[in-house]
Amino acid sequence: MFNKMKQRKISLSFLLLLTNILVFGQKKQPFYWGVATAAYQVEGAYQTDGKGESKWDFLTNKVGITQFTIGEKQTGNVAINMYDRTQYLKDLALLKQLGANAYRFSLDWSRIIPDGTGAVNEKALAHYDQLIDDVLAAGLEPFVTIYHFDYPVVLMQKGGWGNPAMIDWYMNYASVVMKRFGKKVKHFITFNEPYIEFFLVENMLHEQENKHIPPKEYYMSQMQKAHRQLIANAKAIELYHSLHLKGQIGIVLNVNPGAAWNANNAADVKAANFQDILINGLFLDPLYKGKYPQMAMDSLAKYNPSFQPSASDLAFIAHNKPDFLGINFYAPAVVKGEDSAMSLKWLDNNPDAVKSNVGPVMPEYLYKMLIRLKKDYGNPTVYITENGTGFAGEDVVKDGKINDPLRIDYIQRHVTWALKAKKEGANLGGYMVWSGWDNFEWVSGYTKRLGLIYVDYKTQERIPKQSFYEYKQLIKKHKGL
Ligand code: BGC
Repeated sequence: MFNKMKQRKISLSFLLLLTNILVFGQKKQPFYWGVATAAYQVEGAYQTDGKGESKWDFLTNKVGITQFTIGEKQTGNVAINMYDRTQYLKDLALLKQLGANAYRFSLDWSRIIPDGTGAVNEKALAHYDQLIDDVLAAGLEPFVTIYHFDYPVVLMQKGGWGNPAMIDWYMNYASVVMKRFGKKVKHFITFNEPYIEFFLVENMLHEQENKHIPPKEYYMSQMQKAHRQLIANAKAIELYHSLHLKGQIGIVLNVNPGAAWNANNAADVKAANFQDILINGLFLDPLYKGKYPQMAMDSLAKYNPSFQPSASDLAFIAHNKPDFLGINFYAPAVVKGEDSAMSLKWLDNNPDAVKSNVGPVMPEYLYKMLIRLKKDYGNPTVYITENGTGFAGEDVVKDGKINDPLRIDYIQRHVTWALKAKKEGANLGGYMVWSGWDNFEWVSGYTKRLGLIYVDYKTQERIPKQSFYEYKQLIKKHKGL
């Protein structure tokens, strides 16, 4: 009896597979287990092979941005040396050893089109072509982020996303990338975390540099840039689909569900709800529902009345939906009643006794978000494109080893909650740890380690941490999901 049932089950899944191959021309996708990186944080080689100066080259070398945050100038000039093929081949071999089947990384616009809009740099394209081949040869599915915070500095000097022409500049670059790599890469990502780019990092910079615009007005003025990025995202999706490349294209959002500091305090609950709208709804609603949340529009009317998105723009965004949604989940946004939602106050609220580098450890909010995407946003295919953590003092080498129990506990609990949501019908297709390796952590420089693999920044030596081996076990346990 059991055997018969098993047989029926097998033939049913075989039939489903066959239908997939015949109807959709593609095999059923496996559950992806991987790690993620981004070009500026890992590549180094900041002047190699004709690379142009990028926004982050400029911010780190010329503005000295990390001086404001960590009191010392640090840059990604060398980073973890991953532009070097000898180095990255060793790194890919480690991912193979991990048992991963996916690797998310980003391309550097300032390598491919050094002055932003002019000639294409063949050396850079050849480099990434080789990298993609090497990733595939290591048995890893490449998830390629076209744009991860960084772009040629000449475009920043022309206003960046503050300039309406940025949409065309981005489209020119994105089309070079899609046409060159679209046959090999089956998962493209248009943008990484518009909220973090415009409302967090640029807001922090603004506070350092120039205080004459009142904070709420400045905060809301950023909406114009975010809106342009959403239009560019829709245009890139439209272009990708028109190329019939037999793969998928999506966008990555940071999701930080609002959580009241005290769930029994009405003011905290109200503030958490508003914060949630300004972080998550602000992007999810236009992408999936073709409108901005009313509460956000009300604040925009007050602090940035010139922001008037047209109905046709909104319809265009919703019409060109991403094929998948990448979510980067680290922590909820814990909020107190007195915090302004148009600020970064929420980043300071952490009730945990032992505090991580990336906010309070509350994995149940990852589950809640996945269920919410299922219920309120049409259950899109979701990949967790980043999840990970670090704790001060944990990543130290002792007898050639790194024991990082807090990171292990974090990853295990997040995977458990994510898989629970999947079991309950959330359309979850993969999970990636940020990051594979310790690397250049933007405004925090090299002071925050988030990798599964320890990097000695002086020698470039790699040492897999205990969390690497535990993640390997997790992947093994859930193979074939
Ligand atoms: C970014 C990564 C970053 C990570 C950890 C995300 O906001 O996409 O580039 O390193 O968080 O802070």
